[in-house]
Amino acid sequence: MEQTLSRILFLQRQRTDNWWVEPALVLFGLGAFIVYATWAAFQGSHYYTVAYLSPFYSPLIYVKSGVAGAAPLWHALLGEWPSWWPSFLPASPAFLILIFPGLFRFTCYYYRGAYYKAFAGSPPGCAVGAVPQKNYRGETFLLIFQNLHRYALYMALIYLLILGADAVAAYFHEGVFGFGVGSLVLTLNPILLGFYTLGCHSFRHLIGGRKDCFSCAGAGPLNGVYQKVSWMNRNHKLFAWLSLIWVGVSDVYVRLVSMGIISDWNTWGI
Ligand code: FES
Repeated sequence: MEQTLSRILFLQRQRTDNWWVEPALVLFGLGAFIVYATWAAFQGSHYYTVAYLSPFYSPLIYVKSGVAGAAPLWHALLGEWPSWWPSFLPASPAFLILIFPGLFRFTCYYYRGAYYKAFAGSPPGCAVGAVPQKNYRGETFLLIFQNLHRYALYMALIYLLILGADAVAAYFHEGVFGFGVGSLVLTLNPILLGFYTLGCHSFRHLIGGRKDCFSCAGAGPLNGVYQKVSWMNRNHKLFAWLSLIWVGVSDVYVRLVSMGIISDWNTWGI
């Protein structure tokens, strides 16, 4: 068997469909998002405007006052930017929090399948010859890291609540209720993230009472919730992409308004 597999060459296949389109789109889409998110995290500025906080910077642990487009100091959980921060790194609040959503996406079962194909060609597609590997040992050594997903889920659930609170805060400018385009942008963000996060395989396992066979155990009190979670799970790829794109759109929107490149239509007349 092993010898047979080793004779299958990279990209060798009998498939006649355009199997390469999806990995190519993942390569471009995920690659573009990673480049943009890294750039945005390094800025440390223009992440707040009107009543809108970019999701790339939420929750705010510290704020560096006096930076263009920085949030007001009261917004930070721990106050002013700390003096212990290494001077060779930009003073960006995003560095303190992006690790958790990044870990959640990186270890997601859907994304793993997608980026293994698109970035590593391992394999490039179903029933397509993979990049030859010597001594493949399965998910061992560094790949054990992928098992952190269930713990990343707990953090993602907390982030969902925080981003929900940010969406509510986007309807209050200096204590006055109102709304703008940014309020709607930041409202859609936790909704899409909710569909993605609550459709997680680990969450489905959790809500199913951590049983390997939910239906074998008979319908329990959470059966209705389980069915809804299962629907989100069946559409996990769709919500993975919609939520990813919308997180990026939210940051771009807040950034452009903060920089004065576009104006936010809102009821506060700002
Ligand atoms: S499997 Fe995709 S978020 Fe958990």
